[in-house]
Order: sequence, then C-alpha cells, then structure tokens
Amino acid sequence: MYNKNLIDLESMNAEQIDKLVKRAKKIMQNPADFRHACDGKILATLFYEPSTRTQMSFQTAMLRLGGRTIGFDNPMNSSVAKGENLKDTISVISGYADIIAIRHPVEGTAMAASLYSDIPVINCGDGGHLHPTQTLTDIVTLSCEKGRLDNLKIGVCGDLLNGRTVHSLIKALVKYKNNSFTLISTPELGVPLYIIDILEKNNCKYTVSHNLADAISDLDVLYMTRIQRERFKSEEEYLEQKDVFVLDKKKLENARDDMIILHPLPRVNEITVDIDDDPRAMYFKQAQYGMYGRMALILLLLQDEDFVLKSREVIVSEHRCKNPKCVTQYENYLPNHSYEKLGMQMCDFCDKRID
Ligand code: CP
Repeated sequence: MYNKNLIDLESMNAEQIDKLVKRAKKIMQNPADFRHACDGKILATLFYEPSTRTQMSFQTAMLRLGGRTIGFDNPMNSSVAKGENLKDTISVISGYADIIAIRHPVEGTAMAASLYSDIPVINCGDGGHLHPTQTLTDIVTLSCEKGRLDNLKIGVCGDLLNGRTVHSLIKALVKYKNNSFTLISTPELGVPLYIIDILEKNNCKYTVSHNLADAISDLDVLYMTRIQRERFKSEEEYLEQKDVFVLDKKKLENARDDMIILHPLPRVNEITVDIDDDPRAMYFKQAQYGMYGRMALILLLLQDEDFVLKSREVIVSEHRCKNPKCVTQYENYLPNHSYEKLGMQMCDFCDKRID
C-alpha cells in the first residue's frame, strides 16, 4: 500500500531520499527555475506546539515555490479552543488546502490526521516521537557538507530519550552502509529501547558514552540536542539533567578539524555561543538547508506521481494503546490500529507495544 503522507521517514526508501536530496540541491543552484512551481497551491501549517524553523521554513518553502499559506501557530486562536476534535479540523482543512504540515505535542497525531485528510499530511513533530522533516534537513546538510550519507561516525548527544530528531535521524542513517553511532547521554536520557532494536536489527555499530569530551575525538559529525524541558514530569527532574553536556571551546579542542557540529535548534545552552564562529559549527546553515529540503518535499508530494510512500499493513486490534502520551488516549473515535513487529502488536500511531 502506498500514500502521499510523510509521517515517518521509514516510509521513504533510500532512492526516494536520494531523489529528494538531488532536488533540494537543484533548487539551491537555480532557485529562479522553481519560483512558479507551485503557483495556485496552498499549504496549511497547523502548529499546535511552538516552532520557529519548521513552521517558517515550510511557509517560506511554499512562498518561494509560488504558492500561498494558511494556518495557525496557536490552536487557542482556532476552533480547537472551542473543543473541536482533530478529525473535524483536518476534514475541513483538507477541503481548503492542497497539503498540510502539522505539529502536535501528542504522539501519533500526524498519523491520526492522515486518516481524515484527502490531501498529503506532513509530520512536523508529534510529541517526543518523530520529526521526519528535521531528518531530511539533516540528510541534506550531511550530503552537502560531508559529501556522503554512509561511512560516517556520528555522535548524538543530549536528550536522546525525548529527542525525536535523534530517533528519526538514527532510523534514516541505519539504511546507509557502514554508519556508526556514539550515543552520548546520561543513563536516564538514553535512547528508547526500540531505537536500540533498530540499530541491532540493521547490524549498525553503536557505543554508549556518558562523557562528551572523550567521545568527541573520533567523530565525523557531532549532533547536539537540547534537554527537552517540556517533556519532563517535574522541574526537579529537568534540573538534574540540565547542563550535564555542554559543548564548549575546550571540549572542541579534542575534535577533528573536519568534524561538523549539527543541532536541530533551538539551542538553550548546550553549545556555548563562542563556538558559533568556528568553521565546524554548521547549525545555522543546517536550518537553511532545511528550507530547500522542504521545498523539494512539497514538490515531490504535489507534483511527482511516482513519489509515493509506503504504508504499513494495519489491523484493528482488540486492545487500545496504553501509552498515556498516545493520540488514541485523547481522540477517542480513533480506531485501534496496530501492526505486527517481531511477533508483537505495535500501536500504529505511537509505535509503542500494545499487547
Ligand atoms: N528544529 C526544529 O524543529 O525547530 P523548531 O522547533 O523551531 O521548529
């Protein structure tokens, strides 16, 4: 089964990712050629959670392609404030626009939205779950700045538990040959077990480290992330984790000259600002690459009939997902969609085990 929704980068194969990267580079080289590529098209940006880069890069992407945008960045200014459910909001907006970009604090919301949309839905982040277009941003950046997507030693550092960008990045890069990961975090904020499963299933080498200064020396890429304050149960728990890993000039002395530093941003204080002028600091350029990647994605979803994404085979389970962060806990009309993985029933919305 195939569709036009980008919910999880798993649905894109390596050829499709390569096609998107090539298209992004073509747009970068000749932006004028694409100025009217989406004339008459409308992008709806539905942001139920704060954003600077993802929202505005999607908006500028559509504007630079000649299209227009509608949407909200505060659901309390929409009829969500009156109690409108996701299904009704999406059903209505899919009759107004040509493509939807949605961010929501609840896991699985983009997948849920896609069930009620007649137009492509792009997941711009669903709680601590996934953020596939950030990964496309990262991939375009790696391709442009390192010249390859394979044979990379990648260090990911910070909040690896809640950092959805890290989960999406690992899931994408295990598809390429000979990539290895150093997972740098406190024991409390390590990657979820399902990410370890993915690394192991793909025979991808990884090591776990609790020391950034030691781990940095052999990396091609250091991917820093912020500690996600909004995902902690209490301020005390957040304060225990805050500032454990800070990249500063001293630690950077141990890094190779050709290592690049990425960060999905926003930065809080996990990279000191005096590093911004270091030629290895790539995070602001990365944000700009993201705009080109999103232009390429919009074009491929709207205009390339062959660019269809793979769907999972879904069944209706008798059990409801018990993950308190899953959209099925909030939108009670949603079906108990699940899929089978290694003999287990997984929730189709949040990817957690339900049986
Ligand atoms: N990287 C990223 O998702 O940034 P925003 O939260 O500002 O969109």
